[in-house]
Amino acid sequence: MTFTQRVFSGIKPSGDLHLGNYLGAIRRFVPLQDTHETLYCVVDMHAITVWQDPVDLKRWTYEIAAAYIAAGLDPRKSIIFNQSQVVEHAELGWIFNCVARVGWMSRMTQFKDKAGGEGGENSEQVSLGLYAYPSLMAADILLYKATAVPVGDDQKQHLELTRDIAKKFNHDYKKQIKALGGKGDFFPVPETLATGPAMRVKSLKDGSKKMSKSDASDMSTIYMMDDADLIAKKIKRATTDADALPSEAAGLAGRAEAENLVGIYASLSNRSVDDVLGEFGGQGWGVFKPALADLSVAVLAPIADEMKRLVSDRGEMDNILRDGAARARTIAEPVMAGVRDIVGFVR
Ligand code: TYM
Repeated sequence: MTFTQRVFSGIKPSGDLHLGNYLGAIRRFVPLQDTHETLYCVVDMHAITVWQDPVDLKRWTYEIAAAYIAAGLDPRKSIIFNQSQVVEHAELGWIFNCVARVGWMSRMTQFKDKAGGEGGENSEQVSLGLYAYPSLMAADILLYKATAVPVGDDQKQHLELTRDIAKKFNHDYKKQIKALGGKGDFFPVPETLATGPAMRVKSLKDGSKKMSKSDASDMSTIYMMDDADLIAKKIKRATTDADALPSEAAGLAGRAEAENLVGIYASLSNRSVDDVLGEFGGQGWGVFKPALADLSVAVLAPIADEMKRLVSDRGEMDNILRDGAARARTIAEPVMAGVRDIVGFVR
């Protein structure tokens, strides 16, 4: 089947996958493969912007590719690959380094968080790659002229920057694009797909922090590979207030931890928050938490089992990633050839 819209998204192999990655990204990738042409990448070149042990980097790369498939992505429908097997990502990333402005990068909150505030107090410690990371991310997306990008909330700012880079490239090279026979813009300005109840899954221990791969407290994060007992234990110990659940979404205002757990329930069950509260409104945590634990295990356990099976066959995983990279390259190569001509590189 041929589709008119193309989707690209990626996950960094820099830690164990967690519930936030699943609900904010992977779970939402799956239905798109029936309505769009889809490319889902394991962005290993992004991962090394902070130090990665090479053995872990490989393990996590396979694990993410396995999670994609275990969660329902079909490698025949979706192009599944790791970024470093398609070298054009780096080439276009460099060109975008020359399109993007230093000031744009300096405003990225993720960089400021890692480099230590506005002044970048830690900037002697962080890599140059970490600073330039958003232009590589723009290259990932625009190399395929993707029109839609499903991500969680924390990536929205990087997507805005991708849009700015696409617009600036189209503007700066307008004359050449026309001279080479282009009718309008060379790059599309991609749309961010980030709506739903679990776009920012919070830490189970602190409703003001997002669930992340690098949280110091293991009890704050549900990992995709956690077993049923551990998932139940983490949910049981999740921080909450003492009040009963409200009967509609508005009643969750100012109750970050409660909002988080209800959002997770809604997302895992494909229901709206209001619908979930229609069922649990007036109940206490003693009822809600066990129900959430059961639901989480019912959804996550089969995925974890399938992930384990898939990663144990590295030969098969290598075949899938190699085939995905070859298909990705057939889209990337003509786009890159166009970019080289537009920029004025002799070839
Ligand atoms: P990464 O690897 O940090 O996260 C992968 C995806 O998971 C989402 N996510 C969450 N969603 C909800 N709640 C959370 N607590 C949570 N934590 C993570 C992220 O929003 C993301 O969608 N820069 C990207 C990877 C990337 C990319 C791309 C994404 C590189 N190139 C091109 C899209 C398109 C990143 O570091 O994601």
